[in-house]
Amino acid sequence: MVQAPPPTPHELVDVDQVLRADREHLIHPLYHPSDHAKPLVIVRGEGAEIIDSAGKRYFDGLSGLWNVHIGHGRAELAQVAADQMGTLAFNNNYVGFANVPSARLAEKLIELAYPNLNAVYFTTAGAESNESAFKTARFFWKLDGKPEKVKIISRRWGYHGVTMAAASATGLPAYHRMFAPLVPNFIQAAAPYRFRCELEDGGVRPCRLPDGHDYAAELEQTLINEGPETVAAILGEPVQGAGGVIVPPDDYWPKLREIANRHNVLLIADEVITGFGRTGKWFALDHWNVQPDIMSFAKGVTSAYLPLGGIMISHQIQNAINEAPLDLKFTHAATYSGHPVCCAVGLANVEIIEREGLVERAASVGARFLSMLKTQLEPLPTVGQVRGIGMMAGVEMVDPNATGSAYYDNAVALVGRVVARCVANGQLLRRLNNTICMAPPLISTEEQLQRLVDVLGEAIRAESQG
Ligand SMILES: Cc1ncc(COP(=O)(O)O)c(C=O)c1O
Repeated sequence: MVQAPPPTPHELVDVDQVLRADREHLIHPLYHPSDHAKPLVIVRGEGAEIIDSAGKRYFDGLSGLWNVHIGHGRAELAQVAADQMGTLAFNNNYVGFANVPSARLAEKLIELAYPNLNAVYFTTAGAESNESAFKTARFFWKLDGKPEKVKIISRRWGYHGVTMAAASATGLPAYHRMFAPLVPNFIQAAAPYRFRCELEDGGVRPCRLPDGHDYAAELEQTLINEGPETVAAILGEPVQGAGGVIVPPDDYWPKLREIANRHNVLLIADEVITGFGRTGKWFALDHWNVQPDIMSFAKGVTSAYLPLGGIMISHQIQNAINEAPLDLKFTHAATYSGHPVCCAVGLANVEIIEREGLVERAASVGARFLSMLKTQLEPLPTVGQVRGIGMMAGVEMVDPNATGSAYYDNAVALVGRVVARCVANGQLLRRLNNTICMAPPLISTEEQLQRLVDVLGEAIRAESQG
């Protein structure tokens, strides 16, 4: 049996000792010591809340990192992990071996995903999933006798992880600066970003584009300029997350699908954030009746209880892998692909999402959440735009007195202060440049979401003065 945790773990933690060890020996993601002067030591999670070493509770407004869909503290998942570890903690899942949880989870995922997808390759993270997608796309074209089709066209403001190739597909320059040169053959096209117009020099200005602007045609032009015969795939998040919750126009994804077909390139959907109900559908391209050739997933597949990710591939790509000559086989691999404990927890998590109707809940509660945000925040002068779909939302802040890129950039410091005030008031949010991002657990109550919106509104009003 998994023992329940002690009732007040914060009392048991020697915080000073933890912080000393942390400061002396731990490099955190996106690390700079000046950003880490007073880290929160988080010791427990319960439902939609996390609790720090002083016993203070926070509403987990980004679900960890967009991933704790079912909320914290589910003893059921701890039990599944313990049972699987006790039975079989690990065996390699390379060709020639199989294990029960990975086969069962693959079957379940294929039941839930787009009908054209038929096979899964498991990874342990989102970036590794995208690396696998890039390699699988290249593999497919090489077998098809088109070895020159290698380029990946992604979009600016896209985030696909920060391993070397994934970082090269990521369209946020901050992740490139100190690690260049990037991997060749990764090209970024315009994003479907209504609120800003991108300038030739990579800058931005307040958007004057008409609502019906054809962002897909812009991407197609990049594809044509590169030469479709050199392009393996178009890659995109159905809704761009870390770029600031950018929801595309309704005709965008159907057009991208059509462009990919017309130019004979694959379409890769990066559903690392949008998968497993986050947007109110199991997978987000369902909002627009589009099916990708490859889908990357991670995060919500285990609700973050253990690291797991992967790609799902179409029948056509699966057939290519199955029919490859032995000397050209799919030599892609990872020690933990199909890890039995991660897959067992993934299966139990997906069953909880299904059993508790959390996808439908994300659609209905998410719609009310967005409407609260829009009603309460959009009238504020420093709020430029509120965007969202399902249980993900972004509030883009601006300096109403500035023009050009300063209209956005001047708001970056303000956003920092707003988020700090929210944290002090028990609401954990994430800032990405001048946008405040939210992705609450799918189990959040309307009261919790109303409180989040109220605290955020108060913080914006207070920090925008003067
Ligand atoms: C859309 C998307 N793809 C890929 C990744 C990378 O995932 P990981 O950090 O697990 O490598 C992320 C992470 O936030 C993401 O949002």
